[in-house]
Amino acid sequence: MNSQKPSFFICDLPIYGDTILSPMAAYSDVPFRAICRRFGAAMHYTEFVPTEALIGDPNPLWRRLDVHPAGEHPMVFQIFGSDAQQILFAAQRIEAWGADVIDINMGCSVPKVSEKGAGVGMMRQPKLVAETFRLLTRHLRVPVTGKLRLGWDEASQNYLEIAKIMVGNGAALVALHGRTRSQKYRGQADWEAIAKLKQAVNVPVLGNGDIHTVADIDRMKAYTGCDGVLIGRAALGNPWLLGRIDREQLTFGEVTAVLRQHLHEAISYYGTRDGLRNMNRHLKKYFSGLALKPFLPAFQAAPTAVAFEELLHELETAVPSHLPIADLRQMSHFPLPRKFTAKDAESAKI
Ligand SMILES: Cc1cc2nc3c(=O)[nH]c(=O)nc-3n(C[C@H](O)[C@H](O)[C@H](O)COP(=O)(O)O)c2cc1C
Repeated sequence: MNSQKPSFFICDLPIYGDTILSPMAAYSDVPFRAICRRFGAAMHYTEFVPTEALIGDPNPLWRRLDVHPAGEHPMVFQIFGSDAQQILFAAQRIEAWGADVIDINMGCSVPKVSEKGAGVGMMRQPKLVAETFRLLTRHLRVPVTGKLRLGWDEASQNYLEIAKIMVGNGAALVALHGRTRSQKYRGQADWEAIAKLKQAVNVPVLGNGDIHTVADIDRMKAYTGCDGVLIGRAALGNPWLLGRIDREQLTFGEVTAVLRQHLHEAISYYGTRDGLRNMNRHLKKYFSGLALKPFLPAFQAAPTAVAFEELLHELETAVPSHLPIADLRQMSHFPLPRKFTAKDAESAKI
């Protein structure tokens, strides 16, 4: 939904639309964000970056804060840490790199992050949350936001307390993934909690968890009153969802057209070798649930973008472009065209 009228504001920053790609390490990079934006994603988060990596010399993690050469706005840079001064130092440094918003990750459940007091571990330290938001909102020009879980575990769901502390110290938006750290990604996301959060704070709220379809976007918005939704795993291999199009409505030709665009973005950003590696990670998601798995090894072995595109072309001759994706989901088997048999791929050095 990209309208003329902003859906909401983050401080003074207007946000047009209400579907947003959730931050996902190893996936929500420059090429994938470019594709999602084409389908109408209203705003983008970078993958999260540890503050320790931002206070010293340049290192490969800095690349996670790249923005597309054609420009990306509004752009949220997400960082995580467990020391307020260090978070401030890192935030001040990256503010100049093109961030429209700086977001503090308070949701990462990975033990090496959360058990060190960062990510969702921050939610166990209300004083640290208060100090971090107080310092950042006092010293940065851009709005500061945070992404939470419900809490550490079932027995300590303190998202309302933490959200109020954040907002009391200047946070401009709160995003809530409706699961605890103990749940990781299991179980059902608690949309009731997102509704309670929306009632409790006077800044925009983004709801997150268990959005798979266009109907889910509308259901979450209606049920919780949230201002926008963050879509994570369901957007992988499925950028159409950001534009409120269900994958089931697509034809095979529409999927391969986007695969080509994604390939070009990946190669132009990463170069051939890393671009193909990156593309193959996404290809698995694009093909997920479809009868196309046997095709993956040949793509994975493609040494050049041209070889990858030839395979795509071959696939397009084998599968009619007008075939609905829903039909490809039901097929259990697909005859492999010549180039996809192991022997041919070997001899053609595909
Ligand atoms: C592979 C992967 C990487 C993720 N990386 C991040 C991250 O860097 N920052 C963050 O806030 N959340 C991260 N998340 C969590 C998602 O943003 C999101 O909160 C979660 O997947 C729930 O939303 P979903 O049900 O739509 O997937 C990650 C999730 C996945 C699956």
